[in-house]
Amino acid sequence: MSEQQQQENAAAAAVSNGDQQQQQNGADNNKEKEVTENGTTGESAEPVAEAENEAPKKEMRAVVLTGFGGLKSVKILKKPEPALNEGEILIRVKACGLNFQDLMVRQGAIDSPPKCPFILGFECAGDVEQIGEGVEDFQVGDQVVALPEYRAWAELVAVPAKYVYKLPKGLSYLDAVTITMNYTVAYILLFEISSLSQGKSILVHSVGGGVGQAVVQLAKTVKDVTIFGICSKGKHEALKEANAPVDHLLEKGSDYVSEIRKISPEGVDIVLDCLCGEECNKGYNLLKPMGKYLLYGTSNVVTGETKGFFSAARCWWQVDKVSPLKLFDENKSLAGFNLRHFMYLQNGAGHVKRTVDKVFQLFQEGKIKPLLDSTWALEDVAEAMQKMHDRKNVGKIILDPSMEPKPKPATPAKGKDKKKQSSEEKKDNDEKKEEKKEEKKEKEEEKKEEKKEKEEKKPEAPAAAATNGAGEPAAEEADAKEKESSS
Ligand SMILES: NC(=O)c1ccc[n+]([C@@H]2O[C@H](COP(=O)([O-])OP(=O)(O)OC[C@H]3O[C@@H](n4cnc5c(N)ncnc54)[C@H](OP(=O)(O)O)[C@@H]3O)[C@@H](O)[C@H]2O)c1
Repeated sequence: MSEQQQQENAAAAAVSNGDQQQQQNGADNNKEKEVTENGTTGESAEPVAEAENEAPKKEMRAVVLTGFGGLKSVKILKKPEPALNEGEILIRVKACGLNFQDLMVRQGAIDSPPKCPFILGFECAGDVEQIGEGVEDFQVGDQVVALPEYRAWAELVAVPAKYVYKLPKGLSYLDAVTITMNYTVAYILLFEISSLSQGKSILVHSVGGGVGQAVVQLAKTVKDVTIFGICSKGKHEALKEANAPVDHLLEKGSDYVSEIRKISPEGVDIVLDCLCGEECNKGYNLLKPMGKYLLYGTSNVVTGETKGFFSAARCWWQVDKVSPLKLFDENKSLAGFNLRHFMYLQNGAGHVKRTVDKVFQLFQEGKIKPLLDSTWALEDVAEAMQKMHDRKNVGKIILDPSMEPKPKPATPAKGKDKKKQSSEEKKDNDEKKEEKKEEKKEKEEEKKEEKKEKEEKKPEAPAAAATNGAGEPAAEEADAKEKESSS
């Protein structure tokens, strides 16, 4: 077995141990009391420890996913404070980063998620409260940011030291969670994989979001780079005012291929695709010779509030299979990047740490300026997630454990002769009605999509099968599609 395989197996074993830990935690959860059901505060009435002589375990607030699905599965619970293992650092959390990946995790739309219930979140910043055995280079009181594998959205988190980074001078907790994941990914995409250089052009999807804005700012540190950015129309005005303006802002859902060809008939040098599905083919076909297409996300998988099985399948089958022979003939490159796999499954933590250092350096030189969309209390996490889902964020969404939740609207008084409902009963009924409405809407959407896809798919099916065989027929097929999309 090669050294790399051994490392990967060890990493996989560690992950599986992590799952067992999660399951154990899951069992513990049953003893815990929910703080809120809908985002209002409340107190845990029962002590967690069962044995009479045992001191009650200290508790913390955490954002827990109780089951894969919609926003109702996200709850603020009281959980026992985490125990610190060898090689770990205990962090008192001051800010948490919300990433698109968290929406996908909630829906169960990512590979190998842990068993529910578990604490959500991959990004947090705060103060080092305790140091585990064997940890060097950190001290109690250090201000840090961390990228743990889940469990980041809590008042306290124990994180392996290899995923923790000391904050440079002048970087606040909020700015730290605005830049760490997004700019590190953007840096790797632009400078380590795409080898961005002077005079190149880039197509960026979701350009108004966290990674999108990081890409724009980092790309603009290189001379004469032209950026074609696509996002929802509602963000265009705000982006014109942003620190690093996009050269050509295009509307999501528009015929962006034709728009780009009008400005740059040869196409673009780099395509950064976080959507997948049919955007893969469009992006590949837009590449100039020597161009690079890079897939780093699958946002198109997310349709309704809960996982759509059909949208995941569509993302897969809409993508043309490209043979290396085609790449050879056309002088194009394909690449992919997945930070989660790289860090937690492929031993990439050291590499990422070095890239985080480079990002912090750029921050200190004033070359990047974090773009914060909004800050929310832990209890308002559902609303924060909904904002991202509704495509309304410009920049990063953050959760702040010290923030007071928003006041909830008061329940209107009932008429005299109607049966009095407690506010809790009223809320439950409203929630159930809402859930039913959402379910109905999602089913209708899925049916519509299914029908549309079947209609679109019929004439293309034999051609798609032909491309799987690789070689000349595949190239001809893609050429024909390219002509179609650019005409
Ligand atoms: N490979 C990696 O390691 C890695 C790491 C971090 C993030 N990512 C990927 O990068 C992309 C951006 O992530 P982010 O965390 O920075 O999020 P983000 O861009 O801040 O937030 C979401 C934005 O995505 C766009 N979007 C596209 N498809 C959507 C959909 N189906 N539902 C809702 N919104 C959709 C919306 O903007 P518009 O409507 O304006 O397009 C929305 O405002 C995601 O695909 C994410 O998975 C990859």
